[in-house]
Amino acid sequence: MKEIKVFPSLLAADFSVIESEIKKVENAGADGIHLDVMDNKYVPNKSFPVEKINSFYKKIFIPLDIHLMIEKPEEFIDKYLQFNPAYLSFHAETCSNPKKLIEKIKSKNCKAGLAVNAKVSVETVFPFLELIDFVLIMTVEAGFGGQKFIKKNLEKIKKLNEKKNQKNLSFETEVDGGISTENSKDLIKAGANILVSGSTIFKSDSFSETIKSLKLF
Ligand code: DX5
Ligand code: ZN
Repeated sequence: MKEIKVFPSLLAADFSVIESEIKKVENAGADGIHLDVMDNKYVPNKSFPVEKINSFYKKIFIPLDIHLMIEKPEEFIDKYLQFNPAYLSFHAETCSNPKKLIEKIKSKNCKAGLAVNAKVSVETVFPFLELIDFVLIMTVEAGFGGQKFIKKNLEKIKKLNEKKNQKNLSFETEVDGGISTENSKDLIKAGANILVSGSTIFKSDSFSETIKSLKLF
């Protein structure tokens, strides 16, 4: 049976007590922590400036997953790699030479991923599948937490999974946006193995029960 990982998204955490929020999800069985970086250019929102991440990243003891929603990620990549993420993804259309950036990320012993925004076709990542360690399929339009899951993105996961089987590849499939215990089973069945979840976890009464339920399929 495949291993399902749950990465709580810190965007939905209470920033005023960020360290205790991190500890809480770690104790609740989170497999990693998802961190959204937004530049107010690629997406109309700003999040987690480098200085802010600097103030808490050393308190994270499980794998860190950085999701860059920024223009020209190649210009800022060193800043984010210094936080020793286990996973780092960016959106292919934001970068002039995705292959070069993927290689750079991998050279730092970090898993490299390409993110596919809700309106972007999954085929855009097909030329890179042999190179990358994971694909991040967005199930909302990138930019904000707490949005409604867009069901039609399930088709992308299925298509991606078919391609993966066809080519006998081993990349992981991460999904991000509006993920809840109502849609997690369908996502896992379609081929996802990493579930990012912000509001569902941080707004729940029991982080550990929610994480456990998200993993069921
Ligand atoms: C959206 C971000 C997500 C967001 C998910 O642009 O990439 O990671 O934090 O939050 P929820 O689970 O609340 O949709
Ligand atoms: Zn994200």
